[in-house]
Amino acid sequence: MKYVIGVDLGTSAVKILLVNQKGEVCQEISKSYPLIIEKSGYSEQNPEEWVKKTSEGLTELVQQFNGNVKDIEGISFSGQMHGLVLLDQDKKVLRNAILWNDTRTTAQCQEIYNVMGKERLLEVTKNPALEGFTLPKILWVKEQESQIYERSRVFMLPKDYLRFRMTGNIHMEYSDAAGTLMLNVAKREWSTEILSLFNISPKFCPPLVESHECVGTITAEFASTTGLSEATKVFAGGADNACGAIGSGILSEGKTLSSIGTSGVVLSYEERNDLDFKGKVHYFNHGEENAYYTMGVTLAAGFSLSWFKETFANQEAFDQFLEGVDSVPPGSNGLLFTPYIVGERTPHADSNIRGSFIGINASHERKHFVRAVLEGITFSLNESIEIFRQNGKTIDTIVSIGGGAKNEIWLQMQADIFDAKIEKLSSEQGPGMGAAMLAAYGCGWFTSLKECADRFIQTSKTYYPIKENVETYKKLFVIYQQVYTQTKILNDQLTEFRK
Ligand code: XUL
Repeated sequence: MKYVIGVDLGTSAVKILLVNQKGEVCQEISKSYPLIIEKSGYSEQNPEEWVKKTSEGLTELVQQFNGNVKDIEGISFSGQMHGLVLLDQDKKVLRNAILWNDTRTTAQCQEIYNVMGKERLLEVTKNPALEGFTLPKILWVKEQESQIYERSRVFMLPKDYLRFRMTGNIHMEYSDAAGTLMLNVAKREWSTEILSLFNISPKFCPPLVESHECVGTITAEFASTTGLSEATKVFAGGADNACGAIGSGILSEGKTLSSIGTSGVVLSYEERNDLDFKGKVHYFNHGEENAYYTMGVTLAAGFSLSWFKETFANQEAFDQFLEGVDSVPPGSNGLLFTPYIVGERTPHADSNIRGSFIGINASHERKHFVRAVLEGITFSLNESIEIFRQNGKTIDTIVSIGGGAKNEIWLQMQADIFDAKIEKLSSEQGPGMGAAMLAAYGCGWFTSLKECADRFIQTSKTYYPIKENVETYKKLFVIYQQVYTQTKILNDQLTEFRK
């Protein structure tokens, strides 16, 4: 039996999967690392931690593996998107990586619009200037840490840096490059226009490759540390959302994904590169050759729930924490939550907005708050589904992965709020499986990613919308949508008190 490894370099942990030719997960290892939050709005990580934890995880995986290590044919990656890693001329990291959920770059986003114009930026990159994206981060370093910027020679994204440390080769692939705001997404090339407008040398941008492309093998040093064979082929991999889509079979027109991790996304496959969503949703290159996807993002999805649990119930196991939520009726007895605890992306690209509980009354217990948090996250994702529907997309079946797929109540809630069938997969491994599939396809096990998905992915259960709940949630959603505008000015006034 042959195997591949999928490495999912996430925001809170790296998850490593060993997958065989039947698509079975034979081993699974996770190693966590911290976020460095120096001040409100900042979010960084030390790239060395990614390398160290991945190397430790792979070492354990090889130690526990009872086959021949040479049968592990390939390895590929899924990565948290947008994070900026800067390397000097000796390819050494110059500062901590600035991550996708860091929102310090509002001024740089404005600068991008001033220099290029919003219309033209949308034409070239298909996306607006958002704090989380990479170009604003590059401009921030240029302005605020000019000495570091002057020493930088190349920029990388998180999983590309990790892969570089395993192979010695520098590349970037389209699905992640799409989130930098420097790629011409439709033409699939670095935009010379953007690079010259912002005075960035083309050499600063790594060569672009396909997600399933073999970009090298494991270095002797990394092989001897981990026990992997030096012959293991390394494939480029993809952005975590692209890999989440691949790992859930979102590989043809009409397929939609709801993925709840730290952030939450609703993602829809696109064959075409010329649709115009006016920047309301992200429009990125897929990990499948010449394919695309559109996506709306809730910045704090799973993060809102874990924040609530850590703040108010940190001693409890997750199941205990969720106890009683099923006894609370849809609408949480009039309690409404907006998950804007670190700002928001879709449909309100606003790093300054913050969350609210609206309608607290003396009868509410903790379980009402927990249900309101789940509902608020799901309402936020529903805003993206609304945009897709308003643009003529039919969304009647959605594959759910991540935190939202781990709990029956949340799966049913998604069916009721999205007013669509929700499919749960039999073995849901999210982006790590997508990464493993890129390696499997790259190794030549399948003639296409679709063929691989047909073999590896099955639906285990479908949740159908319950009419009565759909009606209740439709009414509540109208109220939910007003909270943003009604709390915007209050939140702006509160900004000066944030530390
Ligand atoms: C997408 C985004 C997040 C990260 C999470 O634009 O910023 O979903 O990819 O890792």
